[in-house]
Amino acid sequence: MSRVKASAPHELATDVRLGRIVRLLMEHATVVVSGTKIAQEISSNRSEVWRLIQQLRGLGVDVAGHPATGYQLKSVPDLLLPEILDPLLRGTIFDAHVHHFYKIGSTNAAAMAAAADGIAEGSVFLAEEQTAGRGRGANSWESARSAGIYCSVVLRPPLPPSDVLVISLAAGLAVHAAIEQVKPNLSVDLKWPNDVLIAGKKVCGILTEMNAEVTRVRHVVVGIGINVNHTGFPRELESEAISLRMATGSEWSRVELAAALLKSLDREYRLLIEGTDARPSILRRFAERSTWAQGKQIFVEENGTRIEGTTAGLDEHGFLQVRTAQGLQKVLTGTVREMK
Ligand code: BTN
Repeated sequence: MSRVKASAPHELATDVRLGRIVRLLMEHATVVVSGTKIAQEISSNRSEVWRLIQQLRGLGVDVAGHPATGYQLKSVPDLLLPEILDPLLRGTIFDAHVHHFYKIGSTNAAAMAAAADGIAEGSVFLAEEQTAGRGRGANSWESARSAGIYCSVVLRPPLPPSDVLVISLAAGLAVHAAIEQVKPNLSVDLKWPNDVLIAGKKVCGILTEMNAEVTRVRHVVVGIGINVNHTGFPRELESEAISLRMATGSEWSRVELAAALLKSLDREYRLLIEGTDARPSILRRFAERSTWAQGKQIFVEENGTRIEGTTAGLDEHGFLQVRTAQGLQKVLTGTVREMK
């Protein structure tokens, strides 16, 4: 863990102690563990254990008991812990590379820093809560505690920077597949470059960042934020954001969805770096699963320019093409919006 830093030393210290308590309770799932034993484990005292247990309860971990009786886990927590995820990720590039944080600034920022420090490909950063979640452009990402999946993966693709957009599109496909795997009849849409939508509202955003030379990628971090069990959003996001729970009326297992997502991402990534014709396959499947790629009246405003017209598929690098009054134009960046 020496190459993995949380946003503040205090947060890491709390993370480590919460993690140790959950681990201890999971190892003794059928028995009550005394406050004294837990206090020894985290080199602290029983009143600190009580405070941390209350914090775990606030995170949705179902712990019975109190300082006088000791503590017991009532069910396996829906926390994205390595102990829970690793067995589900065997055989993937992410196996044994999961780093979990209760609270962090941004998993993308942490993953980019760790990648620059040389952390292994396949390292996954998962957080229960982000205090400075980053979105595309100048946007932030609403990262309410234990409601969503806030996940960043480190990749070191042997590809030129011009192929990184395809990785980002493939990540959108992986999210699409994971949601459909968990709930097969849900209608999930993709909006270029990689918003995942349900009922026209955003359920997932992806921020792909890279460190590259002109001809060679050093590392890529794919950051994925999925709105899973949110019951509502701040007023300014209400008209455009949705969660899986709001879309389906029931609570989702974040562990099940995160495992499905990482397995699907592993398949897409292997195909891309090992397979032949992977790029056309990703572009074709993206266009098939997106109602936005072809024949949609859209506009994009970015850096003082406006592109307006009808979408006309993706080019060979994955850029969105738009038929405009001035001819065929490519969207290189920006938020695509529907003309109403
Ligand atoms: C978007 O604006 O659509 C992209 C949002 C990406 C959010 C995710 S949450 C996990 C990772 N860490 C971040 O700080 N951002 C990404």
